[in-house]
Amino acid sequence: MTLPGVLLLDAVGPEAGFLAEAAAVRGHKVHAATTAAAYTGYGPGLTGVLAGHIVTDFARPDRALAELAAYARRRGVGAVLTVNEYLTELAARLCAELGVPGNDPGRAQAARDKAAMAEAFTAAGVRVPYTVLARDDSELQAALADRRGGFPCVVKPLSAAGSAGVTVVNGPVGAAEAADSARAAVGMYASGGDSRVLVQAYVAGAEYSVESLTQDGTTTHLAVTRKRVTGGARRVETGHSLPVSLPPAVQAAVYQEVETAIQAAGVRHGASHTEVIVGEDGRCTVIEIGARLAGGQIGVLIQHALGIDVWSALLDIALGRPAAFAPTSCGYATVRFVTSPRSGRLTSLSGLPRTGPGVPFVRCRTTIGAIVNEPGANGHRLASFVVTGSSATEVEERADAQFRQIRIQVEPQPVPDSSARADR
Ligand SMILES: Nc1ncnc2c1ncn2[C@@H]1O[C@H](COP(=O)(O)OP(=O)(O)OP(=O)(O)O)[C@@H](O)[C@H]1O
Ligand SMILES: [Mg+2]
Repeated sequence: MTLPGVLLLDAVGPEAGFLAEAAAVRGHKVHAATTAAAYTGYGPGLTGVLAGHIVTDFARPDRALAELAAYARRRGVGAVLTVNEYLTELAARLCAELGVPGNDPGRAQAARDKAAMAEAFTAAGVRVPYTVLARDDSELQAALADRRGGFPCVVKPLSAAGSAGVTVVNGPVGAAEAADSARAAVGMYASGGDSRVLVQAYVAGAEYSVESLTQDGTTTHLAVTRKRVTGGARRVETGHSLPVSLPPAVQAAVYQEVETAIQAAGVRHGASHTEVIVGEDGRCTVIEIGARLAGGQIGVLIQHALGIDVWSALLDIALGRPAAFAPTSCGYATVRFVTSPRSGRLTSLSGLPRTGPGVPFVRCRTTIGAIVNEPGANGHRLASFVVTGSSATEVEERADAQFRQIRIQVEPQPVPDSSARADR
């Protein structure tokens, strides 16, 4: 019997690599849809797994849809997946076109465009920060003067990611610069020139994300993840840890908001990553949803802490087969991200741990001699490593100790402002 082929929209990055490998190991022919530029970066590890690929232009989604649908039909594709934030809407449309399990294409924009997200969440009754869309400078001034918002507020782009162009603004003085930065944060396949920004009320509290899998419209929450974020105007994620146990009433409230958000974004078959802030009063506000598995190695954390094979589960959901979500272990895992203390030229980076027992994943994304930035967006992070074990205290202590070993030297050098890079 020939197994259905599996098409990955953009196969760059560790998460896509794990998915491709899981599908190939199970005997599926794995195909990638990619841009010409991205394909040049596909290493032999990935191309060795692929049965085929199609080069398309994701910046022209209608044309990409037609090309991918024709390719998928020709090559016997029975499952379409993506872990790329920017391609979740196209994935939903392609699944619908091919008649394979996928998300509601009519709602998929709500997980991509933060103005559409705010509208869909508000209509569904999800608790969200007060959000105003400002289409130009006069609307920006009006939004800043709006008494329902006030300062601090958060100025952010509509459809970037990785915290690019997101600024916490404490007063009118920094607002124009924040809006410029949001406008400059062009998403991966967008061409720029959009003058719109969002002005959002600042929500104080602890930041979490909820990692969920939905099959046939029924959602299972795999874990609550605690997010570490830099303070100040630019909020860059510096770590994730899971599983977190919240007080039962708080967890119930979080899950309720998240489930409504998942439905509002049309997630029917697949993963979602919902970011929330829980205030001191225990109230949960949803900051955003991604209709995909979380980035930042959270899939690796789930796999190692909870023993859930997220890659196989995602594959089964995409193929329309019963998926296994149940934890098979009760450990704990954390990922730490390494950032540069200042902008300049990287002259040395030492002390990163090696993979081994209790450290299943280490990734360095830079090279000596590269220009690095002080953290302004997630794309500025230099390296990451995952630490796993049986208890939260032990794992966090070990991760902190490993982190203290890391030494970074950066030589001053004029650095072009690349804080707007919408990297994942
Ligand atoms: N309304 C808000 N109140 C408080 N903090 C916020 C708010 N909106 C955003 N932030 C902070 O800014 C960070 C980035 O914002 P947001 O998640 O909206 O952008 P993003 O680019 O989609 O992020 P990513 O892709 O990294 O998840 C959040 O993780 C949070 O720390
Ligand atoms: Mg976010």
